[in-house]
Amino acid sequence: MTVLLVFGLFIVIATAHNITFLEVPQYGDPRWSADLVCHYVSEKGDPPLHSVKWYRDNNEIFRFTPEQQPTTRTFNTTAGGVSRGVCNMHSCSISVILPKRYDTKISFTCEVSTEGPRFAVVNQTKYLTVAVTLKEDPIITGASGSVQLGEDVLLNCSTSPAMPPANIVWYIDGKPEKTETWMVDNTEISSPDEYGLRSSWRPMRLRVNTPKSVIDLRCEATQPVRPAFTRSTNTSLIVARSPHLSMFTASGSSSSRAKLAVLMITLSTTVHIFSKYSALRRV
Ligand SMILES: *[C@@H]1O[C@H](CO)[C@@H](O)[C@H](O)[C@H]1NC(C)=O
Ligand SMILES: *[C@@H]1O[C@H](CO)[C@@H](O)[C@H](O)[C@H]1NC(C)=O
Ligand SMILES: *[C@@H]1O[C@H](CO)[C@@H](O)[C@H](O)[C@H]1NC(C)=O
Ligand SMILES: *[C@@H]1O[C@H](CO)[C@@H](O)[C@H](O)[C@H]1NC(C)=O
Ligand SMILES: *[C@@H]1O[C@H](CO)[C@@H](O)[C@H](O)[C@H]1NC(C)=O
Repeated sequence: MTVLLVFGLFIVIATAHNITFLEVPQYGDPRWSADLVCHYVSEKGDPPLHSVKWYRDNNEIFRFTPEQQPTTRTFNTTAGGVSRGVCNMHSCSISVILPKRYDTKISFTCEVSTEGPRFAVVNQTKYLTVAVTLKEDPIITGASGSVQLGEDVLLNCSTSPAMPPANIVWYIDGKPEKTETWMVDNTEISSPDEYGLRSSWRPMRLRVNTPKSVIDLRCEATQPVRPAFTRSTNTSLIVARSPHLSMFTASGSSSSRAKLAVLMITLSTTVHIFSKYSALRRV
């Protein structure tokens, strides 16, 4: 008996169309409509396709019925409707106008039903979050060339325009900058551009006091939407050794003595120019 029931269940599933893939972008830009595609297949011997329906948050917005005239109909256009629908026996694509409410999460369901006698129905749901995501990685400025031990370096990390604007976090050798008290701690946000989008930036003053020869920097820009959208950039600062340090490490060789001589000459020249300059100023 049980075996027969299990077989009966398999037959019911096999007589329905199957949704093979549902294309719903994870993020949708409200400046343009979002393109959604539902792909389905029927097995050999399945009854014909009866209808394909699209739902937005459980409200029907579009229907394709190949046996009826007209074959497509749109519903409930008040909350931003379907601007285009193209369907056939294998796929059904629609373009949906999105509300300009950022961080809204909308569910889209595609439901495919098969002709009688059973009218088997299958559906699949995916979610879209309204957001204009960052199209580029953040840009770090001020980190070119090498830095000296004890030097204060002014860095800046900025993003391209997005909505909602990104929050920026700096990481120094893998640790978030928040843990250090001597650094600037805030994300700045620009006024909206012509499309209502905003860029973010975050300056950071970094004092170089590390025994290491390289400082790894990472700027992470995260848009506060569900799910969060993040883009990041890595760079590194080369810590140059000061002249006396490099002489000590290369001590003993004749070239280091030559370097020392050059340094002495440079120093005396500098002092000379400096005193000349002071003398001029006194005049
Ligand atoms: C439907 O398609 C999916 C993906 O191709 C597959 O994993 C699944 O077994 C199929 N289901 C049926 C009932 O054919
Ligand atoms: C139309 O959609 C809105 C929200 O998406 C919903 O509140 C309303 O009940 C829907 N109306 C109909 C007739 O389906
Ligand atoms: C999708 O199918 C499930 C059962 O599999 C049902 O509970 C749900 O209401 C369906 N969703 C829609 C939007 O038709
Ligand atoms: C950082 O970059 C932003 C965007 O380019 C700019 O507006 C801001 O003035 C810069 N800040 C500093 C401290 O350089
Ligand atoms: C950037 O650095 C982080 C660690 O700080 C590392 O996990 C990540 O793989 C790096 N990304 C690239 C592209 O190098």
